[in-house]
Amino acid sequence: MLLSQTLCLCLALAFSSAAPTLHDVMMAGPLDHDHDHEDQAHHKANPDRCDGIEFDAIAPDEKGHTFFFKGDHLWNGFNGPAQVSSAFFKELDDYHHLGHVDAAFRMHNKEKPKDHDHIYFFLDDKVFSYYNHSLEEGYPKDIQLDFPGVPGHLDAAVECPKGECNSDSVLFFKGDEVYNYDIATQSVKERQWAHLPNCTSAFRWLEQYYCFHGHNFTRFHPVSGEVNGVYPKDARHYFMRCPNFGHGGEAKVPKCSEVTLDAITSDDSGKTYAFTGHIYMRLDTHRDGKHAFPIARTWKELDKGVDAVFSYSDKIYIIKGNQVYIYKSAAPSTLIEGYPKSLKEELGIEGPVNAAFVCADHHIVHIIQGQKMQDIDLSATPRVVAREVPLPIAGIEAGMCGPDGVKVYVGSKFYHYETPRLLAFSKMSPEPKKITPDMMGCVE
Ligand SMILES: *[C@@H]1O[C@H](CO)[C@@H](O)[C@H](O)[C@H]1NC(C)=O
Ligand SMILES: *[C@@H]1O[C@H](CO)[C@@H](O)[C@H](O)[C@H]1NC(C)=O
Ligand SMILES: *[C@@H]1O[C@H](CO)[C@@H](O)[C@H](O)[C@H]1NC(C)=O
Repeated sequence: MLLSQTLCLCLALAFSSAAPTLHDVMMAGPLDHDHDHEDQAHHKANPDRCDGIEFDAIAPDEKGHTFFFKGDHLWNGFNGPAQVSSAFFKELDDYHHLGHVDAAFRMHNKEKPKDHDHIYFFLDDKVFSYYNHSLEEGYPKDIQLDFPGVPGHLDAAVECPKGECNSDSVLFFKGDEVYNYDIATQSVKERQWAHLPNCTSAFRWLEQYYCFHGHNFTRFHPVSGEVNGVYPKDARHYFMRCPNFGHGGEAKVPKCSEVTLDAITSDDSGKTYAFTGHIYMRLDTHRDGKHAFPIARTWKELDKGVDAVFSYSDKIYIIKGNQVYIYKSAAPSTLIEGYPKSLKEELGIEGPVNAAFVCADHHIVHIIQGQKMQDIDLSATPRVVAREVPLPIAGIEAGMCGPDGVKVYVGSKFYHYETPRLLAFSKMSPEPKKITPDMMGCVE
């Protein structure tokens, strides 16, 4: 409950002036650490991003911290004041001409682990490669040496992994030209997306692509350039917390000991969702930080929270009260026609349900109600409870089956079993484990 209260507070703030197509609400992740302030005397006065500025570049690092660059300053994350860039990327000060960067992106290149997750900065006709906030040997070098066919004096750059682009690629922007650079073949396709404003920075965040121009941004499709929805939007409503822009308060990151889950599931593509109160959190997005969203943003019929969620055969089943909602897993989540249906009709049971999970490639959904577990074969019709067993532990509110076994959540702790069978029949309960910052983006 506490998690939902604190998160709902910050999301309510985030939402108060949000547009209906809101796609970009975020809470500060646990990653926004305070860094020591260096002596800033010889730098220009700290810019304020709430004034409505145009960023030079935006890029995440290998840990999922997002950096916004302006002149010789940067912001680390969606919260907090400007800091001197060289406090984070030390060598930037050694190159005295480097008062700013033109463009930056984080490399996605699984073929070449040596380059993967490096941040590349572009200035004039030079490129700088950083990893772990250290400049790699041999850099800076001419852009042409690393990215043949890509011009100097760029405006913006953004990674585009295979799956979202046809191959692992980088999109470079200069004026109204877009250079689609294929990392493996080093080939460049040049195009113009006349309807897209000239981007002065570009950012990929949670599988979406954003072109920033002035203090606005426009979301676009990385292959077609298509823009859907009402754009531009003012970045101050979405990517930073500014007074008078709906983000009046500081996000309060909950304590791990206060986190309780209503449901948790992982779909076939590995997307993992934890649900609590009115919000859900993606847990598999290490590269972009962990972020909370209102459940109704993705599953719009579920504005009153959920009781249990499981994934089965490219679909996500959400149980609330006596109803089952079935959605296609693929984005955007769409409710399957004819749903919601009653639990009785769909699964042959009465609600409420505390937790539910299916193990990969199995057809059995394990439904936990109070201190009993019922197994229902999803491949059979009609669906009936094939087996019911009492459970050794009480108070389970959420459960998930993954490659490493079953985890069931009781309050802010969880129990780990290798199989559903062991959950049902173990004579001794394992020691409960605590939810950690690593798991849920909470603080100790
Ligand atoms: C990252 O840099 C820090 C400090 O510069 C260093 O202590 C650490 O060993 C580095 N980690 C890796 C993985 O290189
Ligand atoms: C976009 O870039 C092109 C080419 O550099 C330039 O001619 C045009 O004026 C720019 N548009 C805006 C709105 O700045
Ligand atoms: C930002 O968007 C507003 C309206 O949506 C528009 O009036 C303004 O010209 C835009 N500014 C830039 C630099 O794109």
